[in-house]
Amino acid sequence: MNLLRRLSFRTKLFASLILVILLTTILGYTLIHLAVDQAFHRFVSARARIQKEDLFRFAARYLAEANTEQELLRILKHEPLSPIVTDKAGKVVAAPDPNLIGRVVSGKELSVGVKVTLRNGTSWFLLPFRPPNPVRSPLERGFLRTVTGSLWLAGLTVAIVGIGIGFLLLRQLTGPINRLAVAAHSVANGEFKQQVPVETTDELGRLAAAFNDMAVSLERAERAKRRMITDVSHELRTPLNVVRNGLEGLRDGIIAPTPENLSAIHNKVLLTVRLVDDLHQLALADADQLMIHPAAVDLRELIAGIEKTIGPELEDRGIDFYIEVAAGISPVRGDAYRIEQVLLNLLANATRYTKAGGAIRVKVRQTGDTVETSVCNSGHELSAAELEHVFDRFYRADPSRTQASGGSGLGLAIAKALVEAHGGRIWAENIPHNGPCFRFTLPRG
Ligand SMILES: Nc1ncnc2c1ncn2[C@@H]1O[C@H](COP(=O)(O)OP(=O)(O)OP(=O)(O)O)[C@@H](O)[C@H]1O
Ligand SMILES: [Mg+2]
Repeated sequence: MNLLRRLSFRTKLFASLILVILLTTILGYTLIHLAVDQAFHRFVSARARIQKEDLFRFAARYLAEANTEQELLRILKHEPLSPIVTDKAGKVVAAPDPNLIGRVVSGKELSVGVKVTLRNGTSWFLLPFRPPNPVRSPLERGFLRTVTGSLWLAGLTVAIVGIGIGFLLLRQLTGPINRLAVAAHSVANGEFKQQVPVETTDELGRLAAAFNDMAVSLERAERAKRRMITDVSHELRTPLNVVRNGLEGLRDGIIAPTPENLSAIHNKVLLTVRLVDDLHQLALADADQLMIHPAAVDLRELIAGIEKTIGPELEDRGIDFYIEVAAGISPVRGDAYRIEQVLLNLLANATRYTKAGGAIRVKVRQTGDTVETSVCNSGHELSAAELEHVFDRFYRADPSRTQASGGSGLGLAIAKALVEAHGGRIWAENIPHNGPCFRFTLPRG
């Protein structure tokens, strides 16, 4: 059993193939040999019987000249035919095998016999005698030898051709499997660039294609993980360094512990905490574990609440804020707290990129089975690359901008994760000659 487990797939398949071919050949050979032997035996004995019966009939006419049974038996003794002689009732009176004398043959056997009526009026039957194991003539033996030889040759040819074809097929079968095994091993060692050739459209071809797809996704995931780790450590290092320098300055008496200085350090700590919270949200979203408590949410009410909190700041900055909720809009199905988070993220961005005198518009409209909310602001339109990447983690359109002048580049990624967790869609577009627009849909409640 252990040996069987250690054998390669190719060896096992090949061994079973040879076994099947050999068994089929031997069985075929035996069956055909037996059938030919029996048929030949039947043919030879039938021919002999017919010949003998003809001869008997011919001899009976000559034997009928005998006067008594003694005379008949005496004549037969010198005959090469050596038949079995029975009386009318089938009782054997003479036979080449003395054991048969005295036995009674069946009526069926008697019917193939030849009746001889002697001059004295008595009737006797002559039956052909068949020895139990007929000795074959050299001609018959020669015929059977030829048949056996041909059978062996046919069996051997079938076995060799079968094994040859099987070997080629096996090579075709195990070649791709071996290549896959080597490639999988390389992937396991971190070489994600591995691809195997897809040569067929059968199961092996599909397996190879699936392997290639898996290697590509693994490579993408690995790249994303590395970038994420670099980004996270970079983003955390900056505020932590500020906090460390501030604290060391306070300890060494270089910075005075004034409320402003302490508050600057405190702000950096808050920033770090927010960043860690944001990352936690994204990790939960990745694991499909974002807690969503769905209920019917009235967007008009929700936006009115948000306006109360951000309205005064926008007014201070000289930005106009417009809310347009279509009449008769249905409530959406979602988690009010999470939807508010999405809107606050979009509005924080809009506020940051709108200059004094500009405007921010929030619109809600029904689109089939969903409700679409858009947050648009006057300002610079987004470039094609920005439109494509704004939802990526840590993406900031202006790379020179740091946390001091903006966020960490996670707000839109979180908004996207939240919208998608609700079964909705979020995207960015430009309103020509006006500015960017961020739209998201949510299912109707
Ligand atoms: N309304 C907007 N106008 C112009 N650019 C925008 C706007 N909203 C987002 N962006 C661009 O998209 C980038 C990503 O936005 P995102 O909200 O994800 O990050 P952030 O605002 O920089 O940081 P965070 O939201 O984590 O505080 C921004 O850095 C900015 O370059
Ligand atoms: Mg943001």
